[in-house]
Amino acid sequence: NKIQLKEQSIVLIGFMGVGKTTIGQAVAKKLYRDFIDIDEEIERRFQMPPKDIFAKYGEAVFRQHEKEIISEMCHKKLKVISLGGGAFLQKEIQDICLAATTIFFLDLTWDKWKDRIGLLIDSRPVLQGKNMDEIKQLFDDRQPIYEQHHSRVVTDDQEVEEVADYIVGSLK
Ligand code: S3P
Repeated sequence: NKIQLKEQSIVLIGFMGVGKTTIGQAVAKKLYRDFIDIDEEIERRFQMPPKDIFAKYGEAVFRQHEKEIISEMCHKKLKVISLGGGAFLQKEIQDICLAATTIFFLDLTWDKWKDRIGLLIDSRPVLQGKNMDEIKQLFDDRQPIYEQHHSRVVTDDQEVEEVADYIVGSLK
């Protein structure tokens, strides 16, 4: 069982723009594992970024492919996988990840997160057309969904390397 745990893939969850990809890459490097970014996999499949998939096919199609790709990837061993911020809204995705992987929730407070919004607003379809209050609402609605799931990692005022070291250090 211990060996099995050691071989499980690591999954990073959290709100969009908290650094799942950057931190995931750093963790993968430290552990000599492959890194998989689910958004990138979806983008490869469609040959277009999530924003264009949402616009052309609708969110439901994006979510369906997101689920398929996560189901496939989470069963691989010894990977570091970063999920899109909306993935955990799907119960089936939660169940798949809970059963097969070690999950870390990267938590950034709203105060810190809102400074990044300018970097995200153009590329993230779920932010499009929303005002600040609506975005804060989305943030608050999603937070408890991530919080239910395992190790919370505070990322406020932390360098990427520090967060990655913390994750690696907390593996058993
Ligand atoms: C989404 C987050 C994005 C991407 C898509 C939908 C969301 O990923 O999957 O735009 O619903 O929060 P990031 O968390 O990498 O931004």
